[in-house]
Amino acid sequence: MGTVVVTGANRGIGLEFCRQLKERGEQVIALCRSSSEALDALGVRVVTGVDVSDQASLDTFAASLGDEKIDILINNAGILKRETLEEMDYDTIFKQFEVNSVGPLRVTHTLLPHLSEGAKVALVTSRMGSIADNTSGSRYGYRMSKAALNMAGVSLAHDLKDRSISVAILHPGFVRTDMTGRQGMIDADQSAAGLIQRIDELNLDNSGTFWHTNGEVLPW
Ligand SMILES: NC(=O)c1ccc[n+]([C@@H]2O[C@H](COP(=O)([O-])OP(=O)(O)OC[C@H]3O[C@@H](n4cnc5c(N)ncnc54)[C@H](OP(=O)(O)O)[C@@H]3O)[C@@H](O)[C@H]2O)c1
Repeated sequence: MGTVVVTGANRGIGLEFCRQLKERGEQVIALCRSSSEALDALGVRVVTGVDVSDQASLDTFAASLGDEKIDILINNAGILKRETLEEMDYDTIFKQFEVNSVGPLRVTHTLLPHLSEGAKVALVTSRMGSIADNTSGSRYGYRMSKAALNMAGVSLAHDLKDRSISVAILHPGFVRTDMTGRQGMIDADQSAAGLIQRIDELNLDNSGTFWHTNGEVLPW
């Protein structure tokens, strides 16, 4: 059992990560911009005011840890906007880079001094960031920002190997959450259960792999 930090913990897949990890006895630190009734009801440590695109809020959280160590860091927070060629919006494209690509790198880099020897870092990305898997186009900001996150994940896997820290690049499936307007193939509990299994199986040899929650290795 160890200490797990989850970003975007107040709803959706992040909330499910917190619920299931707490249930199995992990010490969960749930980071969010603002909490929710469902998160408050879990009885985990909730830290509000943490925006993954706001360095100051991350520095405040890191400082609050003192010499406490993190065993698993789950970068789950993300946003989805909908640009098309007909309806282009560069502001939302930049925003998705800020939250989806730079955010997880920022969080991981800020918390690096707190990661324990042998810690695991999970990046919740999307197969929509897979170039090989892009068969339908559009969604410029989301696809580009998740592809960039995948690249950051592989660099982190290389750079953190010396510290015995492994990195999982994870697609949660098509999940019924607010992000998808409750459309999808699976619920958040099934998604999180699979993702937790992937994190459990993560090690230095398979670090940097891009997995579907069901265990399938995805193409870049
Ligand atoms: N659902 C799917 O089918 C699917 C598929 C592929 C990948 N994913 C990925 O899975 C992750 C979780 O998605 P979800 O489906 O659970 O979506 P969701 O229900 O919309 O939840 C998104 C979470 O991210 C948080 N968040 C957004 N911007 C943030 C910021 N700047 N700082 C901190 N937290 C922020 C939200 O907090 P607020 O309440 O404060 O906004 C919320 O907790 C995302 O990275 C998403 O891209 C989801």
